[in-house]
Amino acid sequence: MLKLEKEVIQGGMGAGVSNFRLARKVSSRGGLGVVSGTALDTIMVRRLQDHKLDVELIFALENFPDKKLTQKIIDKYFKKGRKSKTAKYHPAPYPRFKQDSKGILSLKDSSRGPNLEELLIVSNFVEVFLAKQGHSNPVGINYLHKIQWPLMPSIYGAMIADVDVVLIGAGLPKEIPEVMENISEGKNSKISIPVIDGKDYLLEFDPKVLSEQPKLDIPFFLGIVSNHLGVKAVPQSDGYVFEGEIAGGHNAPARSKELNEKGEPNYGKKDEIDEGKLNMLLGQNSQRKNNTIQPYWLAGGYANKLNEALEMGADGIQVGTPFAFSRESGIEPKLKRKVIQEIMGGTEAHTSPIASPTGFPLKVVQVKDTLSQKEIYDERERICNLGYLVELYERDGEVDTRCPADDLERYEKDGGNVEDTIDKVCLCNALTSTVGLGSPGEVPLVTSGSDFSVVKALVKEHGIDYGVEDVMRYILKS
Ligand SMILES: Cc1cc2nc3c(=O)[nH]c(=O)nc-3n(C[C@H](O)[C@H](O)[C@H](O)COP(=O)(O)O)c2cc1C
Repeated sequence: MLKLEKEVIQGGMGAGVSNFRLARKVSSRGGLGVVSGTALDTIMVRRLQDHKLDVELIFALENFPDKKLTQKIIDKYFKKGRKSKTAKYHPAPYPRFKQDSKGILSLKDSSRGPNLEELLIVSNFVEVFLAKQGHSNPVGINYLHKIQWPLMPSIYGAMIADVDVVLIGAGLPKEIPEVMENISEGKNSKISIPVIDGKDYLLEFDPKVLSEQPKLDIPFFLGIVSNHLGVKAVPQSDGYVFEGEIAGGHNAPARSKELNEKGEPNYGKKDEIDEGKLNMLLGQNSQRKNNTIQPYWLAGGYANKLNEALEMGADGIQVGTPFAFSRESGIEPKLKRKVIQEIMGGTEAHTSPIASPTGFPLKVVQVKDTLSQKEIYDERERICNLGYLVELYERDGEVDTRCPADDLERYEKDGGNVEDTIDKVCLCNALTSTVGLGSPGEVPLVTSGSDFSVVKALVKEHGIDYGVEDVMRYILKS
């Protein structure tokens, strides 16, 4: 198994912000480049229809082991394409489930064209395959445990591309090490998936969906947790990333339910790492793991604190925000410039306790002409057509999906409580717009960490178009 000796991990940033280009550049410069594994099926089929990066994408598809399957994808999404920039995209299938006689769920096949599992497998393969081109260093992939339904086929696709590290945050990914072991041996896997107001169901995945079963290595596994308690909750992990509350994207909920004067979660001492308890828990785990101490990385405003982290006993740091605004990231270039200009002018990231349908707090940069502006949010017609953040619910013994960011009447008809829809943002549509792959008319939303000091220093030194090389140099001298 890989021993991960990287001091700098570039954090996974979804959807499409840490794409293969960013990760490839970071890995080739000696850090661990991490692609985001979120919504890759939609990202791939949209890139194909826009004929964006077509030479690279087609090259990656040609290297996938099941040629018949990739031909189906090329025929449906690349050859036919979409007619114009304002035309709708041909979508990846919306997630639906079937149940066997024991009530075990699996993803439903669509009748025509590549089905959802196939698209997840191939798109995760493609992203990792492309991130690994041009160097021989390790590459990771990041998932959110809150988005459970695509996890198993996605991990399978990434493993076919020989991904070195799998990192999972936003939840407690206890079952994943076993899933990866099963997948490597070509065996079925199951994870539990929560169904609102009911019991947990089992979701099953059979890696034999491909015509030929390749032999697969098991990647190194890092659980992304908020503090020492994560070590107790996910002892099976090969290591941890401890992500503090100033980190970008989603954050762990605060222990206190009260909000601060800005309406943000009120983080306190109990949310922080207790170093004594951390060392005790790592010590306990090491007895079960042949005296191996699990390594860990610190995240959340650490881009200028590498030495501090190493002195605390960490193996390194995970950095997000400075990479998110670098020229190689997936954020649409014009939007990226605008956000950087607003950051230089003093705009901030606000941690919303309710915007995300996941239920986790989400950091939102306050930027003009994005969904962070109330008037723009209010104008948007509510619809759920991508479905990554759906919640599962049970009706008459059958499991179906709904999303609190969807149309209110539809959500209520599906048994949801309208109060849960207040201020919910359709992150699926907003975040795909942020990376230039949105449905026509959908407005972007930008997330980031709340510490902009390193972005500001990089822009002052290298200009608005700073790159991965500048970020890596900055981090390594800190
Ligand atoms: C734009 C953006 C998107 C992010 N998306 C994810 C994600 O999808 N999954 C995840 O585990 N972390 C995500 N993060 C968190 C980063 O991986 C990283 O841990 C964090 O940003 C580190 O803090 P920093 O931004 O202060 O350096 C995101 C961060 C940013 C800035």
